[in-house]
Parts: sequence; C-alpha cells; structure tokens
Amino acid sequence: MADVRPESMERITTAAQAQAFIAEQVAAVKEQVGDKKVLLALSGGVDSSVVAALLIKAIGKQLVCVHVNHGLLRKGEPEQVIEVFKNQMDANLVYIDATDRFLDKLAGVAEPEKKRKIIGEEFIRVFEEEARKLEDVNFLAQGTIYPDILESGPVKAHHNVGGLPEDIHFEGLVEPIKLLFKDEVRVIGRALGLPSEMVDRQPFPGPGLGVRCTGAITRDRLEALRESDAILREEFKNAGLEGKVWQYFTIVPDYKSVGVKNNLRSFEWPCIIRAVNTVDAMTATIEEVPYALFDKIVSRITSEVPGINRVLYDLTPKPTGTIEWE
Ligand code: XMP
Repeated sequence: MADVRPESMERITTAAQAQAFIAEQVAAVKEQVGDKKVLLALSGGVDSSVVAALLIKAIGKQLVCVHVNHGLLRKGEPEQVIEVFKNQMDANLVYIDATDRFLDKLAGVAEPEKKRKIIGEEFIRVFEEEARKLEDVNFLAQGTIYPDILESGPVKAHHNVGGLPEDIHFEGLVEPIKLLFKDEVRVIGRALGLPSEMVDRQPFPGPGLGVRCTGAITRDRLEALRESDAILREEFKNAGLEGKVWQYFTIVPDYKSVGVKNNLRSFEWPCIIRAVNTVDAMTATIEEVPYALFDKIVSRITSEVPGINRVLYDLTPKPTGTIEWE
C-alpha cells in the first residue's frame, strides 16, 4: 500500500463503508502474511486496538499482541486490554508488567526530555526482549494512521512509544489503517465491536502519566495522579462531557503547599486540572467547565486522594501552554 491517500478514496463515515474497508483489509492482510506470524505492540490506545481487532479477524492467533505496562498507564487500562483482547476476543496476548523496571530507571530523573527518552528507549528494549523470545515472527504490525504520515515539526520529542525495534529483522510491516484519519479509525473500531471506552478514548501520550507527574517521578505521587485522573474522568463522564471535551486530565507537580485537613495542618501536593479543546493539537482552547462540576471534583479529589490538599484549574490556552505540562 502506498503512503499517499488517493483522491478518489471516500471518507469512511458509515457502518457499511466500515464493513467494506474491513473486508478489503482482511483479504489484503491474509494475502500479505500467509501463514506467518505478526507481532503488534498493543498499547490499548485507539489505533493499536483497532489494528489488533482487525488482525484478529484476519489471522486470529497468528497475531501476537504484546501489551507492555510501563507503570504510567491510567487506572484500569491494562485490565481493560486483557479483558477485551484476551477474554473477549481470545487473542494471543502477552502481558508484561514492567512497572518496576521503568520506575527504577526514572528514579531521580527530573528533566522532561530525559524522562521521555528513557521511557521511549526502555519501551523498545522491553518489546525487543519479548520479540526475541517468540519464534518465527515475520511481520511487525503498527497502528500508523494518516496524520502520522503527514505530521511535521512537533514541538517536543514526540517519539511515539512503541517505535520500531531496531535490532530485529522483519520481513515487512503490516499497517492496515495507515491511510485513515482518526474519525475513520473510530468508525472502523465500532464496526469491529470494540467498546466505546476504547474507541472514543481521548488522546493519551506515549510516555503516559510520566509527563503529568512533573519532575522526578515518585510512586506515591504517581498514585495520587492516577487516582485524581480516574476521579476527573468519572465526573466528566457523569456530567455527559466524555467524547465532547477533546482532552482532560490531571497533573500532580513535585511541590507542596500548606493546607488544613481534618482540623490539622497539612503539607501536600496540589492537583492541577487541564481540559482543552482542539482540532489538530497545534493550538487549543480551554473548556468552560461548570462551577458545580468543579465543586464536586475538588471535593472528591481532596477527600479521596491521599497527598492532595488543593485543586487548581489551568486556564492557559495553547499557545502559550502546551497541552501536556512536560
Ligand atoms: P502538547 O503537549 O505538545 O501535546 O501540546 C499535543 C498532543 O500530543 C500529545 N502528546 C504526545 N503523544 N507521545 C504521544 O504519542 C508523546 O510523547 C506526546 N506528547 C504529547 C498530547 O497528549 C496532546 O494530545
């Protein structure tokens, strides 16, 4: 498949178009790989999940999915990947909990680009080690989409976690969604029966919570971040904002302030909420969150999350702020 989307290619919006695309790609993948094995780094994000579901339909257990938990995933994510792909789709899934390995490597590292580099490189290393253990894997599948091909000049080192292993030779790449835009990938995902939490999921950076636990990551602050993020997502969902706000998450920075909790002086981290809307992530505006919803979120985070005594809202559009804090 060429890397350029033909002008004649219709935008996929309907279930019927999705089924036609799936049938076409299933045939193409079967033709490409024959009876050989294909390896896929399955992060649980929209793109890799859609590729996994498509390839399971095409070649079943000839696909080997590797899900690396780098310890920087959101609450419930690894469990959902296992539930959907292993339990429901009966996929050939290798789950690796590499949390300790990543967090040990990241201990004491405060510089944002250094953190990203460690996470990206370590990911490839873990993935390569797993790939080497498997026998006769001939192809590498990737969730490349059209904007990845078109993308130019990122502000940060956006090396996507899950890059190409360098030391292993593959006969070829399997990239069935590389000519699709994100909205089309979602239509395909729905047609393949993936759950809405997976298909309509907001963007999540490769380095995960690592770029939101600012400075040197510690396990207790990472846990506070994961819990506050889960509360924010739950409350946005209850308020009907899921799928309407482009990206929303929390940040827990590496400094503390004085407060009062249960009539006692506390000295704890603040939690910063970020909720933005954008079309292409190059610029972003701030979501006007209703105060009543803020009230609820502040009260839940400060009472339910150990280590947090204050909640702030980031009012900065992009520019001058980037969407992520690191
Ligand atoms: P920034 O922070 O640059 O982010 O305004 C723009 C969009 O990109 C996401 N992002 C990343 N995605 N790997 C990714 O796959 C990364 O290293 C990375 N850094 C930022 C960010 O979440 C936002 O959607």
